[in-house]
Amino acid sequence: MTKLWGGRFSKKTNKLVEEFTKSIQFDQKLAKYDVIGSLIHIDILKEAGLLTTEEYQTLKSGLEKIQKEISAGTLIPNPPFEDIHSYIQDQLEKKVGNVASKLHTCRSRNDQIVFDIKMYSLDMLADIEMHIQHFISILSELASKNLNVKIPGYTHLQRAMPIKLWFYFDAYVAMLGRDLERLMNAEKNINLTMGAGALAGTFIESSKYNQAASTHLKKIKAGINPPSNPIDTVSDRDFVIEILSALSILQMHLSRLAEDMILWASKEFDFIEIDDAFCTGSSLMPQKKNPDVLELVRGYTGRLYGNLIIVLVMMKGLPLAYNRDMQLDKEPLFDSFEIVQKELQVLTELFKNIKFKEENIRKQLEDESLYATDLADYLVQKRVPFKEAHTIIGKLIQYKYKSGEEIRNMRAETLKKFHPLLTPKIVNKLIDPEYSVKSKKSVRKTKIKL
Ligand code: ARG
Repeated sequence: MTKLWGGRFSKKTNKLVEEFTKSIQFDQKLAKYDVIGSLIHIDILKEAGLLTTEEYQTLKSGLEKIQKEISAGTLIPNPPFEDIHSYIQDQLEKKVGNVASKLHTCRSRNDQIVFDIKMYSLDMLADIEMHIQHFISILSELASKNLNVKIPGYTHLQRAMPIKLWFYFDAYVAMLGRDLERLMNAEKNINLTMGAGALAGTFIESSKYNQAASTHLKKIKAGINPPSNPIDTVSDRDFVIEILSALSILQMHLSRLAEDMILWASKEFDFIEIDDAFCTGSSLMPQKKNPDVLELVRGYTGRLYGNLIIVLVMMKGLPLAYNRDMQLDKEPLFDSFEIVQKELQVLTELFKNIKFKEENIRKQLEDESLYATDLADYLVQKRVPFKEAHTIIGKLIQYKYKSGEEIRNMRAETLKKFHPLLTPKIVNKLIDPEYSVKSKKSVRKTKIKL
């Protein structure tokens, strides 16, 4: 087993130290990107005259073989290796012999690892962004399919006023749209560099890093530059924190949406039916159909926030430049990316299959308390001061609960006692979900984005 260091040591590394310091068990995920980095690096070495054409070709074909093995899934790192960089170096030595020892010229794992995580993040961000867009289109579709459905709207989880169902979903479309922008911004802020070395740069001219235009470079839309400050390159992980923050905010939105659907699927609300294929049962209670997917989405929020806090706290107080603490940024980053990726996939399918129980929703809209504001607003439009109108309707509602009489069935004399303008005809016109949602005119007219 090759170590990338060892010359100055007179003793073998203690087994416990090896076990404690290795990262191969998780950074093997970065194998693909590490090899891309090495393929670009040998272009730079060739440009700089540090490799003969023959050496370059040998290294290139060795790396390409490793690349194939990675995509075929046959390159399985052995646990004894310290990290993915050492493992690939070892594989290359086995494939091409001594010339492999030139690969690490002007290179440090400190800049290699930043390049690898940035490449990985760019790939994952593109994938997550695509999944968000897909989920947004499913929510928009759900909204447009239910354009005429009204539901009770809630504040404090108490019935407030009728709202249009599509407005509800459109709110999430807006939130997810901002999440998408946040992630795209984080993507834009990723600055891919090569040539930082351990912390101070390398003896290769920066122009050589610029010139190393290979097929790999073309594939990377962000482009690769020599670092404007190598200390910054190797020592910061703000891009990781930015991604974890954007993912946490997205997760918070998904969790709130999940919570509403859990409530809506309960017998108490009974607004929706989640397809059987997206629910689970109870081992004891035969009647149960549980929304476990949504509960797990809600539950994962702690993990997402935790992952952000792990990296924030890990970075706090680290002296410049690289410190080994930073090895611990990967598990939280991988974890958050993978959780959100899975959630978006399963939620998209789950939402495609949600059915609205329109009849039940309609019954809930018969609750007259939902129209109290409409009744007060009517009086206000007839010049009654709002505070007064609020009190009048408040008293009317109190009377309704005490007497058990429905407002819509109250006699003219009863209504008149609260205010002369309240008549059976008027209250029956106002206690209507259609009238209520139509009367809200302050909202800008928007088209549903599909
Ligand atoms: N495994 C390390 C990390 O993930 C990269 C290697 C740098 N190690 C070092 N001893 N300089 O951050």
